Amino acid sequence: MDKASEDAPDAPASVNLEAASAARIYDAYLGGTTNWAVDRAFAEQAVKQFPLIKPLARANRRFLGRVVHAALDRGITQFLDLGSGVPTAGNVHEAVAAHERTVGGKVVYVDYEPVAVAHAEHILAQQDVLSWAGIVRADLREPKVVLGDRTTVRLLDFSLPVCVLMVSVLHFVGGETDVAALVGRYRERLAPGSWLGLSHICNDDSEPDGAAQLARLAAQYSTTQNPAFLRTRAEVEPWFDGLAVLSPGIVHLADWRPDDEITAAEKEAGPFMWCGVGEVPGQRSDAAGVHRPQRTGP
Ligand SMILES: C[S@@+](CC[C@H](N)C(=O)[O-])C[C@H]1O[C@@H](n2cnc3c(N)ncnc32)[C@H](O)[C@@H]1O
Repeated sequence: MDKASEDAPDAPASVNLEAASAARIYDAYLGGTTNWAVDRAFAEQAVKQFPLIKPLARANRRFLGRVVHAALDRGITQFLDLGSGVPTAGNVHEAVAAHERTVGGKVVYVDYEPVAVAHAEHILAQQDVLSWAGIVRADLREPKVVLGDRTTVRLLDFSLPVCVLMVSVLHFVGGETDVAALVGRYRERLAPGSWLGLSHICNDDSEPDGAAQLARLAAQYSTTQNPAFLRTRAEVEPWFDGLAVLSPGIVHLADWRPDDEITAAEKEAGPFMWCGVGEVPGQRSDAAGVHRPQRTGP
């Protein structure tokens, strides 16, 4: 075994260590230790091909953190994190626990990568949070399985607002899958006041050299367990149909309610992802829905 650190749990028996996986590559981009030689070799190659990939991963992770924080500030306390990845800095359940006004938060992580799931199980058990946070090992392309899983059913009440996160994951979904229909399957379960937050790699709004580099890197993912699909803003926008897109709209990572922590490199990487948050319209059934958020049109 050539795992990067003894801190990470051993790989489960079913894990494929022959081909790199998106979960473990992303962990390597973020400087984590739950990755293997095959993942690190891919990550090193990726940095040569597209030098902004590490700041892009960090900027994406920070976007996720800002969305979770904004949702908590709006009184949303339930989270379904689809394609949650290997646990790393800024995990959703940690943000929920740290939010001083949040009581009774619930978090369900979903991933199909066995190492990501094993590590999440390990962390959640170690932190003794399994009464309110859990991980489902499932393919998000099967919403019926995800939504019907006993952990999802135990923890989430879909009659109340839920924040569904599809952050940096839908670019691994394509081919036979109708992504708009898939997103719709999750959205139709959501009560008024629920949020859908997502980010997606793109190169339709960046300078040509970077765009070409990212296109080459995306093509390289066909050698991993997770082929990747670049999409344009026009392709991402319809996924928010039927939702009120929250301010500042569908934008690049560094432009979504930025804070002071964004570095210059992360700003530079920003144009390589589209991101946004939509809210299910209608009157919230819980008390927190009394104040309406600032919105822009879809
Ligand atoms: C780049 S990571 C993103 C992690 C996290 N969402 C974030 O933004 O920090 C993508 C994750 O999505 C997972 N993933 C990709 N396709 C998936 C699918 N069809 N079902 C479940 N998980 C999937 C991968 O295993 C990986 O852990």
